[in-house]
Amino acid sequence: MIALGCDHGGYALMQSVKKHLDELGLEYKDFGTYSTDSCDYPVYAKAAANAVASGECEKGILICGTGIGISIAANKVKGIRAALCSDCFSAEMTRRHNDANMLAMGARVLGEGLALKIVDIFLTTEFDGGRHARRVDMIED
Ligand code: RB5
Repeated sequence: MIALGCDHGGYALMQSVKKHLDELGLEYKDFGTYSTDSCDYPVYAKAAANAVASGECEKGILICGTGIGISIAANKVKGIRAALCSDCFSAEMTRRHNDANMLAMGARVLGEGLALKIVDIFLTTEFDGGRHARRVDMIED
């Protein structure tokens, strides 16, 4: 199960992400927002992040205008490693080296094609473990 969260700035791209996940047959839980009405991204960041932190969802995808605010908010939740990615290399490496459990993207930064490619890479790349596991463990207090 993939947790989804966005604000009004990310709403349109999130609809594309949902369609893409539907086509891939992947299950998701949408924590909103549910329209383009102006809203506060921390609300949706934390709702989706809490679902990942609790184990209800394995991973999450967050979208706001830049991806910055929603990733900062999600990373305040203990156990969350939200990575803001705007390129395929970062999406691969944050899974392999950081075991990132949430992907954040900026809808005003990325085109749809690149965003969906980043989603695919994030969802299919495994954590390398080994020395990276020690470093990831050191992130948590
Ligand atoms: C909303 O206008 C915008 O500030 C928000 O989507 C995001 O970019 C914040 O980091």
